[in-house]
Amino acid sequence: MIYLDNSATTKIDSSVLETFNRVNKLYFGNPSSLHELGETTTGLLTQSRRLIAETMGVQSEEIFFTSGGTEGDNWVVKGTALEKIHFGKHLITSEIEHPAVLESIKQLENLGWEVTYLPVDSRGIISVENLKRALREDTVLVSVMAVNNETGSIQPVEKIGEILKDYPSIHFHVDAVQAVGKIDLKLGEQSRIDMAVFSGHKFHGPKSTGFVYVKKGRKLAPLLSGGGQEAGRRSGTENVPGIVAMAKALKITSEKQIKIQSKLTIELEEYLDKKKNIEIFSPKHRAPHILCFGIKGIKGEVLVHAFEKKGVFVSTTSACSSKKKTESSTLLAMGIPKITAETAIRVSLSEENTQEELEKFIKIFDEIYHSFKVIL
Ligand SMILES: Cc1ncc(COP(=O)(O)O)c(C=O)c1O
Repeated sequence: MIYLDNSATTKIDSSVLETFNRVNKLYFGNPSSLHELGETTTGLLTQSRRLIAETMGVQSEEIFFTSGGTEGDNWVVKGTALEKIHFGKHLITSEIEHPAVLESIKQLENLGWEVTYLPVDSRGIISVENLKRALREDTVLVSVMAVNNETGSIQPVEKIGEILKDYPSIHFHVDAVQAVGKIDLKLGEQSRIDMAVFSGHKFHGPKSTGFVYVKKGRKLAPLLSGGGQEAGRRSGTENVPGIVAMAKALKITSEKQIKIQSKLTIELEEYLDKKKNIEIFSPKHRAPHILCFGIKGIKGEVLVHAFEKKGVFVSTTSACSSKKKTESSTLLAMGIPKITAETAIRVSLSEENTQEELEKFIKIFDEIYHSFKVIL
């Protein structure tokens, strides 16, 4: 098997899985319990929070555990809207955000919030000038992702931060789910980012784990109310084994080199570039692990299944849109015609992929490519 769908999810690291199993078995106490078992699990949470904070260059009190990227995005978007309801009801986002952001924002739009959806250019990048023009007195949130999950395009997060320095009350949210271990994202005091969302299963951690960075002093209304866990901001008994394992996965990922992915995706891009009837949709400057492309006239879905038959796992752009059989909204926003967008497939690597796998992939790609000769 050659697994090249790491943007959808990654395989859990074996030592991370061991940690998960050990904590699940031995440390089952509820962190809210007063007895020793509870104390021990509270200690594990504290250590995990500290490890994550150190790895991200922020403070422990700025890390809040969640069930993953979707919850994190929902929390930041809706939590900001609720928190700032008396200050303003204008939100800014891009047209190519993950549905966890876009659908949250649409819900608010239906309830009366005003939204500016920033368009992207042919590389999938927003214009910072457009953003500047969109800012209003009643703007409460700017939500722009770091790395797009379908094409790997990288948004100018630092430049956006520069502009927002003149608007200190606006929450600047960055969906960083596809950024971990791939691009350098500066958080902390020197950065203008107020909230950043992360998901454990995208960096070889367990599924349904995640965390949100919330800059000290920033207020965010909770969405999950209850027993007051996570300093009252996210109630619910903590997923202790998942959190401990995620912290370990983050540490391991942050220490690994991403060069291998860059090298392999660049090699693949160069190979595809030379072939006729191939269109590469990812921009030249992109995250090192994603390459989105298509064969003219061949639906992405057909390609995905052709690869699958040969033991290679890729996807049609995002995991969310592939089962719904909808074409990529990111590609449409980039101005790519619907019929072309339907050809797209996404190859996404992790540090575990090897040169040998890439060579095999290219060989298999060639076989599939030539089998479509009649159509081409
Ligand atoms: C950019 C982005 N944001 C949010 C999510 C949602 O994360 P999760 O699967 O942890 O809910 C994903 C998942 O693909 C993503 O790629």
